[in-house]
Amino acid sequence: MDRFSLEGRVALVTGAGRGIGFSFAKGLAEAGATVVVNDIRAEAAEEASSAIAAAGGKSDALAFDVTDNATAAKAVDTLVERHGRLDILMNNAGILIRKPVETHDMDDWQRVIDINLSSLYGVARECARHMRKQKYGRIINTGSVMSVSSRPGVISYVAAKHGVVGLTRGLAAELGPDGITVNAIGPGYILTDMNKHVLGSDFEQQVIDRTPLARWADPHELQGAAIFLASDAASFVTGHVLMVDGGMTSNALLVPTADLGLAS
Ligand SMILES: NC(=O)c1ccc[n+]([C@@H]2O[C@H](COP(=O)([O-])OP(=O)(O)OC[C@H]3O[C@@H](n4cnc5c(N)ncnc54)[C@H](O)[C@@H]3O)[C@@H](O)[C@H]2O)c1
Repeated sequence: MDRFSLEGRVALVTGAGRGIGFSFAKGLAEAGATVVVNDIRAEAAEEASSAIAAAGGKSDALAFDVTDNATAAKAVDTLVERHGRLDILMNNAGILIRKPVETHDMDDWQRVIDINLSSLYGVARECARHMRKQKYGRIINTGSVMSVSSRPGVISYVAAKHGVVGLTRGLAAELGPDGITVNAIGPGYILTDMNKHVLGSDFEQQVIDRTPLARWADPHELQGAAIFLASDAASFVTGHVLMVDGGMTSNALLVPTADLGLAS
């Protein structure tokens, strides 16, 4: 199964101080990559990198704010100086602001668009400078079920995550000739700090009812998709949005078949 090996590859994972990003970083390290853990919280990046190293992985920490493009550009150059190359970018950092449209003001809107969409373009652009020279690169953006569907109360998030699909397809079209693939992963509902406060609420149950696999997921369940898209196994996959959502976005009805009188 060498085609899934990331041995010799160098990966940058943004927002990897905890949650899904940390899980992506661990997964890529287990597949053999040297993983550079980014987070805006320097201590969290260091701790995550140490945890990966303690588990036998090759890792490094590089704290910066992904929305600060000048700093991100320097950080990416530093990464290449330290590790000699940059093969994989997991553009993962993101936030969520829950407010109805009446109070979801322009500052909220701008903050979410900056972190969840514009920064992905900025960091990808800086990484692509190096990937182009290598004629090889893998850019993987973190989308969401909100990349292809919607719900009330998170308007800026829905807009940003739909934008991630456009960004993914646009970059795939432009960077393909340089040997760089660009794909997105669309996670379903995953228990992390971003949403752990809904545990025990009606919302938690609604997610279960809506999801054919009838549960929330653990962050490690996204690792396979990341390793696949980052590996040679996905050499001809680009511009694709891989939903890892327990079937949520392919399920239009909440009503069990038995209640529709269709059960045999
Ligand atoms: N948790 C879910 O159910 C879920 C579902 C779909 C998509 N996602 C997406 O997955 C990604 C990670 O989500 P999570 O649940 O792990 O969230 P999380 O809040 O647990 O972790 C996000 C990490 O990003 C870091 N971060 C925030 N702003 C940053 C910045 N400007 N620069 C660098 N780092 C920054 C945070 O410090 C944190 O460590 C996000 O893009 C999110 O939208 C999450």
